Parts: sequence; structure tokens; C-alpha cells
Amino acid sequence: MAAAGLQAVEWIWRDGEFVPWDDAKLHILATAVQFGTSVFEGMRCYNTPKGPAIFRLDTHIRRLLDSAKIYRMVPEYDADNLSAVAKEIVVKNGLKDCYIRPMILRGYGAPGLNPLNSPIRTFVATWAWGAYLGEGALSGGVDVCVTSWQRATPNTFPARAKAGGQYVNAQLMKMEAITNGYTDAIALSPSGLVSEGTGMNLFLIREGEIVTPVLDGTSLVGITRGAVIQMAKDLGYEVRSEPVPRESLYTADEMFFTGTAAEVTPIRSVDRIPVGDGKAGPITLALQKRYMETVKHENDDPHGYLTFVNG
Ligand SMILES: Cc1ncc(COP(=O)(O)O)c(C=O)c1O
Repeated sequence: MAAAGLQAVEWIWRDGEFVPWDDAKLHILATAVQFGTSVFEGMRCYNTPKGPAIFRLDTHIRRLLDSAKIYRMVPEYDADNLSAVAKEIVVKNGLKDCYIRPMILRGYGAPGLNPLNSPIRTFVATWAWGAYLGEGALSGGVDVCVTSWQRATPNTFPARAKAGGQYVNAQLMKMEAITNGYTDAIALSPSGLVSEGTGMNLFLIREGEIVTPVLDGTSLVGITRGAVIQMAKDLGYEVRSEPVPRESLYTADEMFFTGTAAEVTPIRSVDRIPVGDGKAGPITLALQKRYMETVKHENDDPHGYLTFVNG
């Protein structure tokens, strides 16, 4: 069955076995469907001269298990099992460049709000996925707004957990942005400072200085964010992680999103105000180049970010 924009492949892994794509089903009354109790990851696998490789596999699996732990879910599979499945599912589906979506969730079994008796189910899916923010986004940049929805206050929804239910907030932002003619949105924290994008972290550049909003408990600790900070340092730039007021979005020379899906996507305007001269800037493009070279193994991968699926 084809879904909007989602290209089916042959196999999905479910609780220890590969099942055909259309058979990877869940009961409508699963706790995850009723109340959003799922945790998930998004990883990318890139084709390289040495075969397909997953970017930062171990770090993603660690974050998945951390998210599960925060929500008191104990899956039957440990990090080694899940890493092996992530590699295997790429091979089994004959994919090279793809996105991998592991999920741990609460299944069928509880009518009310106590999720503790619902079984823990584990799925790993994969599909081919191109540029997340559309054709031309990586070279030309995207137009974004500051959304009127805010990120959740710390100690309401745990921002460091990547949990399905928390993404209703991001979907409100994304729908608002698209309805108003933007590609995506930047969210403020409840304090009014800049937090992150809907599924991306954010970097600003002004007079050669790179700044990213401090991790204040309102944003996800992006794995691409961490890698890009490291890559910027490798290229000789300093990166500051600090509180960013909204108005800095309107006066930056360059700006970009980072994320597994979005990779390094330049931002060319915010609320219709051009970022710099309204094009992808030189530091952004240098970092994007470094990122793409790394994920495609066109350099020596000095930080050991790649895991080869055939390795
Ligand atoms: C809310 C949110 N922020 C940031 C990111 C970027 O994180 P990463 O670079 O780990 O993909 C994501 C994507 O996972 C996200 O969903």
C-alpha cells in the first residue's frame, strides 16, 4: 500500500522478524495510537565507495534507548540487537541511500491512561528519502517563519526524548508554516528565546561567528547538531552555544538547519526578511560540503561516524 510520499519497500522488522511491508500492523487500540506512547529514531544510510553506511548509528540507538527509558519502556532488544537490525534491514531491502526509522512503542492492551501493562513492541522500518525540505532546498535554501506555537516548557514533555506524542506540537507548527506559504518554521521556547525547528536544530552566523541556541531543555539534542559543531571546529571555526533572542534571526548573515532528515539546509528568509543577501552563505555551504563528504565517506571520517552495513 502506498502512502502519501512514502515509498514502500519489501520488509519491515517487527519484534524479532522481518514481515512484509503491508503486514507491519498495529491494533487501532494500541496505547501508542490512542495516547502517543512511542519513541523513535531517524537515521540516514548513505551509499559510499565502500558500500552503504549509517551515519552515527550507535549515537542514534543510544538516544532511542534513552527515550524509551524516560518513558519507562524496556524493549526486549538491546543496543547491539537494534544496531544489527538497522544494518540488516538496509541489506534485506536492497537499499543504498535510505532513511531508517526504529520505533519502540506501547501496544494493545490498556483502555485507560496506565500504559504500564501494554506490551512493548519494537519495529524498524526503512525507505528511500531524498531532500527532506524539497528539491533545491540544499542548494538554494528555504523560506521559514517563526511559528506562533511554542515549544513545551521543560518538565512538561521531556524534550530530550524523541517521543511520538510530542510531535503533535511540531505538526501544528509545520501545518501553520505550510498554510502560510513557508517551507518550515522556527519555534521559540516558552521564555521567548529561539529553540529549534520542527524537526531540526538551528545555527546562525554573523560576522563569521557561528552560534547555535543553547540546549535549554526545550529542544532535542540533535545528533547532526553535534557533528556539525565538531566539523565547524575541524574547519577552524569557533561555535558558541548560547541564548538566542528572536531578533537575531532577522540580523544574521547566514542561517541553516541541521537534522538527520534536513541534513544541512540553508535558510534564506525568516518571516519574509532575507537572511543576509537571501542566498545560502559561504560558511553554511562549507559546512554542508564537509557534512556531505563525511556521510558519503569522501574523507577519512576522523570521528568514526560511519557504520558500514556490510561490515
Ligand atoms: C525536534 C527535533 N529537533 C532536532 C532534530 C535534529 O536531530 P538529529 O540531528 O539528531 O536528527 C530532530 C530530528 O530528529 C527533531 O525531531
